[in-house]
Amino acid sequence: MNSGPALSNLSSETRHFDPPADLAANANVTAEAYEQASTDRLAFWAEQARRLDWTTEWSEILDWQPPFAKWFVGGTLNAAVNCVDRHVEAGIGERVALHFEGEPGDTRSITYAELQKEVAKAANALTELGVQQGDRVMIYLPMIPEAVVAMLACARLGAPHSVVFGGFSADSLRTRIGDTGAKLMITADGGYRRGKPGALKPTADAAIEGTAVDTMLVVRRTGEDVDFTEGRDHWWHDVVDRQEDTHEAEAFDAENPLFILYTSGTTAKPKGILHTTGGYLTQTAYTHHAVFDLKPVTDVYWCTADIGWVTGHSYIVYGPLANGATQVIYEGTPDTPHKGRFWEIVQKYGVTLLYTAPTAIRTFMKWGDDIPAGFDLSTLRILGSVGEPINPEAWMWYREHIGHDNCPIVDTWWQTETGAMMIAPLPGVTSTKPGSAQVALPGVSVDVVDESGTAVGDGEGGYLVLSEPWPAMLRGIWGDDERYKDTYWSRFDSMYFAGDGAKKDDDGDLWLLGRVDDVMNISGHRISTTEIESALVSHPKVAEAAVVGASDATTGQAIVAFVILRGSAAESAEDDEQAGEDLIQELRNHVGREIGPIAKPRQVMLVPELPKTRSGKIMRRLLKDIAEQREIGDVTTLNDSTIMDVIADKMPAAAAKED
Ligand code: WTA
Repeated sequence: MNSGPALSNLSSETRHFDPPADLAANANVTAEAYEQASTDRLAFWAEQARRLDWTTEWSEILDWQPPFAKWFVGGTLNAAVNCVDRHVEAGIGERVALHFEGEPGDTRSITYAELQKEVAKAANALTELGVQQGDRVMIYLPMIPEAVVAMLACARLGAPHSVVFGGFSADSLRTRIGDTGAKLMITADGGYRRGKPGALKPTADAAIEGTAVDTMLVVRRTGEDVDFTEGRDHWWHDVVDRQEDTHEAEAFDAENPLFILYTSGTTAKPKGILHTTGGYLTQTAYTHHAVFDLKPVTDVYWCTADIGWVTGHSYIVYGPLANGATQVIYEGTPDTPHKGRFWEIVQKYGVTLLYTAPTAIRTFMKWGDDIPAGFDLSTLRILGSVGEPINPEAWMWYREHIGHDNCPIVDTWWQTETGAMMIAPLPGVTSTKPGSAQVALPGVSVDVVDESGTAVGDGEGGYLVLSEPWPAMLRGIWGDDERYKDTYWSRFDSMYFAGDGAKKDDDGDLWLLGRVDDVMNISGHRISTTEIESALVSHPKVAEAAVVGASDATTGQAIVAFVILRGSAAESAEDDEQAGEDLIQELRNHVGREIGPIAKPRQVMLVPELPKTRSGKIMRRLLKDIAEQREIGDVTTLNDSTIMDVIADKMPAAAAKED
């Protein structure tokens, strides 16, 4: 494994921070949990499952037929009842579940009692529109309360939802709809982003063409004009608002599918990660309780993720609501209408627990210390990080400038596939080191192994694996068991391979080193190199493309594409510099349209050839050296070793264009 910056700073990283004494004294979870879980892992998880309300108790904790797991076999429950109704029944219906902050400044606070009614109405509406247990429902919405309500309404009916991030293009959405076979989609006219309404409905309309979707339920958010197809499209306010506000929920099997969420893998086709109900809810609720030390009566929690990503699923909807949390959800971007918007929100709602991503933290660092300094952040008590490795510098900045030197930082490692946090500090227990995700959570078995699958020693690096099944684990890839086995379980014998590199330091603490496969991590979003290459090659002027992730100070990684043009296009780009520049812009926009704006390459390099082995495999490793502007590695296996000089010549010394 190569040693990136995260590795080199390991040797010098001697700082560590003990939990504040009062936090440690009152922590939800103490060091005993590690012991308890290691003594009897299954009993430990069964105890955590009792945090939920079950209609029928399970008969077996785990049925493990590698690599297929069933947790809490025979148990039945309803996820929406666990997230909403039971809190109302317990007498806390007046507690605010969601403080919604719209980007334009409109707000809504929704109590658990109100949420219960909204979910019941939405469930009744979906039933009227024909949704039944097992039917897949697409959700393509901005970050508005209806997104949470829609997900819970599906869960209530036992109909798995598939949420697609509002920034994805029609093509990306269509692929996902097709794969799920959904017949109904919940969307909106649009949402607010960067100070203006952004339309969603036209994309949704284009996306359903040629799919099985024949019904759309449309939330009115922006009020902009949209096309409406009679008989197919229904306004949410027409259909949902007139429903009864009670709904009899059915209990479903613990293994009833809860959702399918698409994520990038090493091929162009996104994988539909399947999660089920009982185990998923158990682990999301437990980890949220343990890692954020949630005190539901006094804490105000805010996770800044979008509902379209797994973080939004697990740590906005299911974990926090199962725990009866009060939380903030925010529709917009951190710099609208000003760069202090996040801190203004923290101040306004008295946020105590904040969960965000390293890319955001680095952006705030860049904007300057004086911005957060202008707000009262004294209510904060724990700060979370997720999505990519957090560099020690960003970690320290987060601690000092947001956490007033006094909030534990919980760096949480997990994936869409793991469903819930796997590696993270316990804020009342762990002495945290800047940049380390520390150790596996109680009940989770993690290791770092070498090429042969043998555990490495302290101070050594290798591949991160999960060595025992866990309750929130993916149950498969939707409709493709072979790919599930192949992707995660074939690399090492009876261990789940996460695709990440990691290192154990001398104390055995874990440091994540980023992806080791062809998946890039752009601002915490997984994007596969192949997906972008396919998008580029779909442009009529492109003959071949190779894409790599290069390190980027703000987004973690940035996309760099090497493109070979087709004959005549190549000639005109060669002859006319302006034509070349224009084409580069065109290609960037093309990828933006095909996949979504987050996938736009930072740089597109027009090259005459790509480095290939004799068998024709593109050597991305060498392209990465160029993209990172470092010395080019071993070229002996190249078919034509002069090609690297030709490509390197094309690389501008200065980095990056930004949008
Ligand atoms: C990366 C997001 C280092 C990792 C929850 C993983 C991290 C991928 C961390 C999953 C972290 C996530 N430290 N790397 N704390 N958290 N990652 O599926 O490469 O969007 O495999 O899930 O993000 O991304 P996904």
